Amino acid sequence: MSEKAILEFNGEQHEFPIVKGSENELGIDIKTLRAATGGLVTLDPGYKNTGSCQSGITFLNGEQGVLRYRGYSIEDLAEKADFLEVAFLLIFGELPTKEELEKFHDDIKSKSVVDDDVKKILDAFPKTAHPMGVLSSLTSALTAFNPSSVDVSSEDAMYNSVVKIMGKFPVLVAWTMRKKQGLPLDYGDNSLGYVENVLQMMFKKPNETYIHNPIITEALDKLLILHADHEQNCSTSTVRIVGSSHAGLFASLSAGISALWGPLHGGANQAVLEMLEDIKEDDGDTKKYMAKAKDKEDPFRLMGFGHRVYKNFDPRARIIKKSADQVLGQLGIDDPILDIAKGLEQEALNDNYFVKRKLYPNVDFYSGIIYRAMGIPTDMFTVMFALGRLPGWIAQWREMRLNKEPIGRPRQIYIGENLREFKTINNR
Ligand code: CMC
Repeated sequence: MSEKAILEFNGEQHEFPIVKGSENELGIDIKTLRAATGGLVTLDPGYKNTGSCQSGITFLNGEQGVLRYRGYSIEDLAEKADFLEVAFLLIFGELPTKEELEKFHDDIKSKSVVDDDVKKILDAFPKTAHPMGVLSSLTSALTAFNPSSVDVSSEDAMYNSVVKIMGKFPVLVAWTMRKKQGLPLDYGDNSLGYVENVLQMMFKKPNETYIHNPIITEALDKLLILHADHEQNCSTSTVRIVGSSHAGLFASLSAGISALWGPLHGGANQAVLEMLEDIKEDDGDTKKYMAKAKDKEDPFRLMGFGHRVYKNFDPRARIIKKSADQVLGQLGIDDPILDIAKGLEQEALNDNYFVKRKLYPNVDFYSGIIYRAMGIPTDMFTVMFALGRLPGWIAQWREMRLNKEPIGRPRQIYIGENLREFKTINNR
């Protein structure tokens, strides 16, 4: 294999080294491009061909449908690990021992109280506010209540910020939902497991004991693991780039939440369920929606289909589809939406338009069906995605800071006006 790439420009040849990842992924290191060529930059809208960093956290191979966190397959982790173990693995690089996991959980619990004044901020939001906007605002607001978590460069200070946000974020998630539903804002119960506590904080009625259903706890745990990291996607890149200005972990996460909100990214899980509902209302007419998705004049896309990187199948979607069947079966729920989803998937998989473009169901196609079976409102689906993605964002932010990466600042090719003479307002 060639060790360098050669670029010819203006009659001169320039050499750039090839970098090789641990799974033999190759890239051209163009760090010296501008200096060597007198100002050339690369142009790559959507960064489809651009590696923004070297990372040791998540490996994925879109052609083969492979996803691994720190070298462990997503299939193994979803089946054998729990969410907190996976969070530790992503953030610190190794699976924890029993003692390490216990300490991590204890530290998280000890920092899980959210300042009571945050409730005043929540109070100011209208009930109609989308939970993702509220969550992003509250996460950013945590910066004001925890100023020592902003300027963190030592590993100890980072650890402190990490356990703080791991503890406080589920409280914000629960409060965001409860506020909309007019339920009192409560704290969890530190005697519970991390995911059990999330469910209790979300669903406990003030006048009832919350009864834990292990089927629901296990299903949520698995969903959170499947969402926990996905290398340099839109929200993760946002977290890294905001963090690269040393804005602090909570501000970086708040920006990541906003990025995740969009329907082309995490917001797709809400959009999928709304689409399936529309199809149901339309007498299950999947053909009509398939035609709309293929019509280039129609902006409609089949939500939950397609992926920037997976061009064969999304391994998370396979696990989730199986889980949706199991969970609904175990809970005794017969949801017609699941049948519509399966029918739509079959049609798309056999349709030339989708086959030619390698469009397969992604992680968001079936996840909403499980969230719905758990009693989670549709507009909270993307919030659940954020809860799962939290350790991934943290791990990526921490890696970026520990690697002392420079501030993210892409170049552009300017295509606007050349220098013009300024005309005063009366002369325009
Ligand atoms: N329905 C219909 N056509 C589609 C779809 C879709 N869901 N996705 C892609 N296409 C077409 C697209 O129109 C284009 O066609 P053509 O080559 O004729 O112009 C071709 O497939 C390639 O699409 P692209 O937009 O260039 O691909 P991309 O890599 O930029 O976009 C995507 C990836 C995920 C944004 C896109 O597939 C999409 O919009 N899917 C629907 C939204 C969705 O489910 N998002 C969740 C992604 S997974 C979880 C996450 O990232 O958070």
